[in-house]
Amino acid sequence: MRIYCYHDYQELSRHAANLLSAQIIMKPDSVIGLATGSTPIGIYDRLGELCRNGDLDCSKLHSVNLDEYIGLQPEHPQSYRYFMKTQLFDHINIPTENTNVPNGLETNLEAECARYDDLIDLLGGIDLQLLGMGNNGHVGFNEPGDSFTLGTHVEELSESTRLANARFFEDSSEQVPTHAFTMGIKNIMAARSVLIVVNGSKKAEMVKKAFFGPVTPLVPASILQLHPNVTLMGDQDAMKLLMEAGVKVEGSAVEV
Ligand code: GLP
Repeated sequence: MRIYCYHDYQELSRHAANLLSAQIIMKPDSVIGLATGSTPIGIYDRLGELCRNGDLDCSKLHSVNLDEYIGLQPEHPQSYRYFMKTQLFDHINIPTENTNVPNGLETNLEAECARYDDLIDLLGGIDLQLLGMGNNGHVGFNEPGDSFTLGTHVEELSESTRLANARFFEDSSEQVPTHAFTMGIKNIMAARSVLIVVNGSKKAEMVKKAFFGPVTPLVPASILQLHPNVTLMGDQDAMKLLMEAGVKVEGSAVEV
């Protein structure tokens, strides 16, 4: 695992965007796995800027998003389809038909999961999967305790995840959907490379647990320790316990 630590969120976002754009420059028809949450917003801003400046071309790119709430219309401001459209797709030149998010309105849940797994296979698998990490160590919506062997599936969201995500729903966890479609750990581990980004001191404990603790379904992100090509990028607040423990990090010169 390559570990990079940056001074702040802006610097982290720029460097993570550089890595994504390097992937797209080297392989313009890449399949990129995308994530939602607040962490990737700075990366998406930067990718938009690179496209606007003519430094990045996403016209051959395909994207597959990790997850989607069940029951939200694509136009709902808290749906992940809407998030991706407004935060990224409207700002880069990726053809809309090349962008994929699970269909949160599909009522045949099993069929939607199978369709999504087949789609990823048809595209030839994921070249680079971008991940954030939930406060409880979840990736996508793979909650603590889930089997590592699952492909795309329906997840019942934990109380802590619904509470954490309530900040986007006028702060009422009541309004957060109870279930979501999510790629499983099997899909994530099959990606040829993974970039996981973390920021803020709230994540520091979990970063240490996930990347230097035991590999266990109780900490879903810990499985990434077994992936052959993972890059972890964080700001110094999220990485502070790693640095205090003497873990060697690269990136900008961050003093402990
Ligand atoms: C949601 C998403 C995850 C994301 C997590 C962290 O639950 N399903 O993919 O990693 O939020 O969000 P944030 O980046 O806001 O901490």
